[in-house]
Order: sequence, then structure tokens, then C-alpha cells
Amino acid sequence: MTKIGMRRIVKWISCLATVYFAYSYMQRHRFTTATDDTGGTEAQYAVEKVFLESWQDYVAHAWGYDVFNAASGQGQNFGEKPLGWMIVDALDTMMLMQAHTKDVRHRLRLRREVARCEAWIRDELDYDMNTEVSVFETTIRMLGGLLSAHHLAETLGVGTPAVYAAKAEELGARLVPAFLASPVGIPYSSVNLRTGEAVKSMGIGEASLAEFTTLQLEFKQLAYVTGNATYWKLAEAVYKPFFRENDYPAAYDGIAPVGVLPDTGKFFTPAFKIGARGDSYYEYLLKQYLQTREPLYWKLYQTTMTGMAKHMIARSVPDDYLYIGERYGTLSGPFMPQMDHLVCFIGGLYAMAATEGVPLAKAEQQPWFDGDRALYWQIAEDVTYTCYRTYHETPTGLAAEISFFSVREDEAHDSWWESPSRNFFIKPTDVQNLQRPETVESIMYMWHLSGDSKYRQWNWEIFEAFRKNTAYYRPDGSLTYTSINSVVAEGQTTPRDNMESFWLAETLKYVYLTFVDDFDLSKVVFNTEAHPLPVLDPEELARRGLVTGWDL
Ligand SMILES: *[C@@H]1O[C@H](CO)[C@@H](O)[C@H](O)[C@H]1NC(C)=O
Repeated sequence: MTKIGMRRIVKWISCLATVYFAYSYMQRHRFTTATDDTGGTEAQYAVEKVFLESWQDYVAHAWGYDVFNAASGQGQNFGEKPLGWMIVDALDTMMLMQAHTKDVRHRLRLRREVARCEAWIRDELDYDMNTEVSVFETTIRMLGGLLSAHHLAETLGVGTPAVYAAKAEELGARLVPAFLASPVGIPYSSVNLRTGEAVKSMGIGEASLAEFTTLQLEFKQLAYVTGNATYWKLAEAVYKPFFRENDYPAAYDGIAPVGVLPDTGKFFTPAFKIGARGDSYYEYLLKQYLQTREPLYWKLYQTTMTGMAKHMIARSVPDDYLYIGERYGTLSGPFMPQMDHLVCFIGGLYAMAATEGVPLAKAEQQPWFDGDRALYWQIAEDVTYTCYRTYHETPTGLAAEISFFSVREDEAHDSWWESPSRNFFIKPTDVQNLQRPETVESIMYMWHLSGDSKYRQWNWEIFEAFRKNTAYYRPDGSLTYTSINSVVAEGQTTPRDNMESFWLAETLKYVYLTFVDDFDLSKVVFNTEAHPLPVLDPEELARRGLVTGWDL
């Protein structure tokens, strides 16, 4: 190459670089003069930045490991080899951010990280391991993550779909023995990925309601992707035994106890909760309807919502915060006025039941929009507000793991933290925050379905509280994000030595999507770990022989 040619090339490169940096600077600072913090682009940039800080810190200290002890900066695996717990769970958040970011440098970084994950999944991830895994957790996080990566790679052009489809099929096949172990088809809670040995949970061996009824979106999508109807049939077969054995739903108004014996389907532990061990049973009834339009699931979902309004919903004193409590023994048995943070997904679920994913104003024009739908929307607004208040009222701006609501004017509890509005308390054993997603999840739905800008403000406020209180600087000055020990402690919060994979998979994704304009909620169904799966065309399903195989 001549000297002149060389010089011209250098000139061109520096010119291009100048244009590129000017462009990315403008992109990032376009909305800095907006009147509030909640302009979409600026907020998107801020969330991408926290995501990348969290992710890069994981890559630097614990790449490949399943568990990230973030404060001490170390990784661990559950079994003899890694399952991809962090990588597969976080991947589709990066894909979505790569597709939606307005910042060129972020886009390049995200593209590099997606490629890094894809190569690891293709070359390193090996499910042939002598390790017993939770069927539920592995399905929602790993199978769900692989299937959504497959879907996004296909539709957004951000990866190689075949890599994810092949891994999903292999993992699905290794989970199947858990279903086959039970005489009635309710999967045992764990399975050894190499030997296929299935194991019931400890103690009496009961199955958690929310575990065996939260596999269906993933196994139906797997059946669709692979063309193998076995996955569909196994996942659906779990319902019939417990409906048949327990005079359910009639005798229970649709609310099911949280424990079921997997060999018979008989109800066992008489605790009725929409939080831990119950939650996603209700979620997947509606979401299966949204995924496939099978009317049976809409009917079942409606039954459960009637029961919820009758037995589980209550209002606090003095300000009537709507919340969902717990019952023990029978549905008319003792009522506990407390709500797990986990329950806060229910606002988004009610909102989706009201509108089926189209904006409220449009839903209200539809022939199917009736009094029930209007009631669902009202409950969605009210319970989402309550969940927001459990953040807004604490000194850190973050909610506790469980909130306990006031039932009397003069209610007092020594040594419990009392909220300024006096509507709720936090017990000393419940003050931790695990960076959970459910509240920002519901707020994300409320924003897209209502267009009311207060919801963007709420998620911005919560995001700021996470950024401020869960950021942790190690002694060497490096930054990470962790769960924290107390949302009500005065002064500096103390870290727990863990960054949950759902911080990357769910919490930051839902905050992020709140600030993406025009995200269409009628085209995807999020699984319970925030992995978006496509809404499937009923005619195409019928052509492939994938149809509901049971009825009440
Ligand atoms: C469908 O999946 C099941 C369970 O993994 C497997 O046993 C069966 O061989 C598969 N069928 C085909 C045609 O691949």
C-alpha cells in the first residue's frame, strides 16, 4: 500500500470515529433536557448501564458459574458442572436491550455479550451431568430462557436460533422422567439429569401447586418448536388428577391449597396462598389462554378470580390499600393479613385478564369487554398501587420480602417497623430485599396498557432506589449489585452475598421495558421468569395436532 493511500485511510477512520462518537453522544444526551427523569431514551440508557455493570461484574468474577456471590466476588455451581443459571437466564434481556437501545456503544457491547453467551451455550453447556435439579426452577429459568432466546434470535435477528432450539430439546427430554415417575402424571419435584431418577420433595413428598402447574407455557412452546406433541401432553396431564380427586374447582371456588400428593393428585397441606407455592398456578391458567387461545383456560382462570375476590382480597386500615392475604385450614378459616412480595405480580395478571394485552381504551371497545373485565382492571390498579406503596413508604424506597397489613385503627406491634401511613408493618424477619421483580413487572404492564405516565414515574423511582441501595462497592473499589439485609435500617444498607439471576432476567428487564415505547403485549407471553414466548396461532396449532387434550 502506498503512503498516500495509508494516510487517506487513517483520515477516513478518524473522520468516521468522530462522527460515530458525536452521534452516540447526541443519542445519549438527547433527552437530558426533558422535563422529568422518565423520558424513555434517557431511562433506557440508565437501565442498560446498571444491567451492563451487573453483568460485566459477573463475567469478571464468576463467568460460567451458576451462583454469583457478588459481595465476595466468587462463583459456585449447584452440581458437578454448570447449568448456565446466570447466563441462560440473563441472555434474552441482553437480546431485547440490543434490539431496543438507542445508544451505539451499548448496542456494540450487548452484541458482543450475546455472542459470548451463545458460544458458551453451544460449546460449554453440557446437560449430561450426574446432578439432581428442581424440575420447576430448571424449566422456568433454563428451558424458558433457551426458548425465548430461540424466539428472539428468530424474530429480532440477534443470534442463531438453531443453537437454542437444540439445547432446549435436549434439556426438555432430560426433564421428562420426572413426569413419568408419577402414576398420575404429576411430576416429582427433582430429577437427575443423567440417570433420569426422579425424586419427590423432602418430608411427606408433596408437590407444590405452583411448581407442577408452572411448566405448561414452556413445554407447549417446546412442542411447537420441535414438532413433538409429547411435551404438550405431559405438561397438560398434570391438571386432571387434582381436579378429579378433590371436587375442584367447585368445592373451593377455584382457590387450591398449595400442597398436592404427586402420586394421587389429592390435596394435602390446607394452606391457601397466592404467594409462595401458589402464585404461578393462577398465572399460567391465564397465560396458557393468552398463548394458545384455548377457551378452557380462560374459564378456569375466571373461576379462580371469583374465588380470589371472595376469599383472599382485603383492604387495609386506614387507607383501604387492596391486598391479597392468606388462609389456613379451610377457605373460611383464619385469615392472615400479609402479602408476600411474590404476590405483586397479580396486578399485571389482572390487567392482562382485563385487556388481553391491548391498551385499555381499545379493549373497552371490544364486544368481550364486560363487567368482569372492568372489575379486573380496577383490582389491577388498586393492588399495583398497594405494591408501589410498599416501596414508596420505606426509608430505602424498597419493599420488604413480606408486608403485614393493618386491620384495626389502633393496631400496634412492638418491634415491627410501621409504615408512615400506618397501613402496613414489616416484621424483623421479613425486612430483606432480594431485588425481586414482581412490582416493577405489574407496573410495566400498567404503563403499556393504560399509557398513564405515573406508572413510568413509579418504576423510575423504584429503579433509583435499587441503584442507590443495592449497589455495593467492594474494598477494592469495584462495583456490584446485591440483595440487601434490610429495607428499613437507618443509614447504609448491608449486602447479602448474592446477586439473584432474576435481577438480570426479570427485574431489570421489566424496568427496561417500561421505558421502551410501543412494546406490544398482545404478541408475547412472559413466562414466570420474564422470558418472552410468542403468542401462537390457533389454526397453526390445530394443523400440527397440538390441541387441549382434556376437559372438566
Ligand atoms: C418426543 O419426545 C419424547 C420425550 O423426550 C421422546 O421420547 C420421543 O422419542 C420424541 N419423539 C420424536 C419423534 O422425536
